[in-house]
Amino acid sequence: GTVLAQTMLPKLAQKASYKVGFAQTESNNPWRIAQTKSMQDEAKKLGHQLVYTDAAGSTAKQVADMRSMIAQKVDAIFLAPREDKPLAPVVAEARKAGIPVILLDRNIDPALSKAGTDYVTFVGSDFIKEGQRVADWLIKNAAGKTNIIELEGTTGASPANDRKKGFDDVIAKNSKFKIVASQSGNFARDTGRQVAETLLQAHPEANVIYAHNDEMAIGAVSAIQAAGKVPGKDILVLSIDGGKEAVQMVVDGKINYVVECNPRFGPKAFATLKDYAAGKKLPAKIINADRDYTPQSAKAGLASAY
Ligand code: AHR
Repeated sequence: GTVLAQTMLPKLAQKASYKVGFAQTESNNPWRIAQTKSMQDEAKKLGHQLVYTDAAGSTAKQVADMRSMIAQKVDAIFLAPREDKPLAPVVAEARKAGIPVILLDRNIDPALSKAGTDYVTFVGSDFIKEGQRVADWLIKNAAGKTNIIELEGTTGASPANDRKKGFDDVIAKNSKFKIVASQSGNFARDTGRQVAETLLQAHPEANVIYAHNDEMAIGAVSAIQAAGKVPGKDILVLSIDGGKEAVQMVVDGKINYVVECNPRFGPKAFATLKDYAAGKKLPAKIINADRDYTPQSAKAGLASAY
């Protein structure tokens, strides 16, 4: 076969039907399940064969899943990289094997892997902006609630890095607000609950919990109740994702504010693949629009939350 130049992305032939990989990160929360369903539904609708793998929260397994897709000679791969560094080598391996990769929802460290060179493009949310929006809401709406516990997502995941940066930078500019503790809850409900319990004991002055996703926020609500306090009142709870369960908690007053992270990737992912095959020039990032859920808007938004 032909040897690809080091900096050239593999071409994708224009075909009615592709065999496409989707390397998912984990399936332990409604967001991931909604994302997978959207990919499966769209593949089915368009008549593509989806080779689906679930890394079950293991970066090593996700690397192995990618290698297995390369060995199966799929036409293209959608990758939701669990962490932003360890997946870079296998993205390069796919490119060398002539398989274009599109990053879905999570990013790879741009120092290690570049859009238009190593992978085609990134499709997903602006995580920095999500964090900024939470901080902006807090500063505008929190009378006297200024001591913040932050529950971070999976260590090394781009949404954890960026949701922290976006939020912390806005808070740092406001001397009234203080982040009293910040620790990973691994984007998981039970870990979030446990970490929140520990941090609430260590920081009785805390009156805000900012969780990088709904699952940890829901865990934090339980931790606040276990500490004999009222979530949404004694301690404000803020999160990102916008799944039904969390939006219902905004309606019920237990969570105060949620910025959406839209998990419905299918239509955009496959449209991007088609554009790529057609030779259209694609931007480095294709950013999803995210709405939000306030105590005023949550009820109306509930029906269309995932
Ligand atoms: O990458 C997006 C994040 O990953 C979502 O906020 C979270 O729920 C998921 O696991």
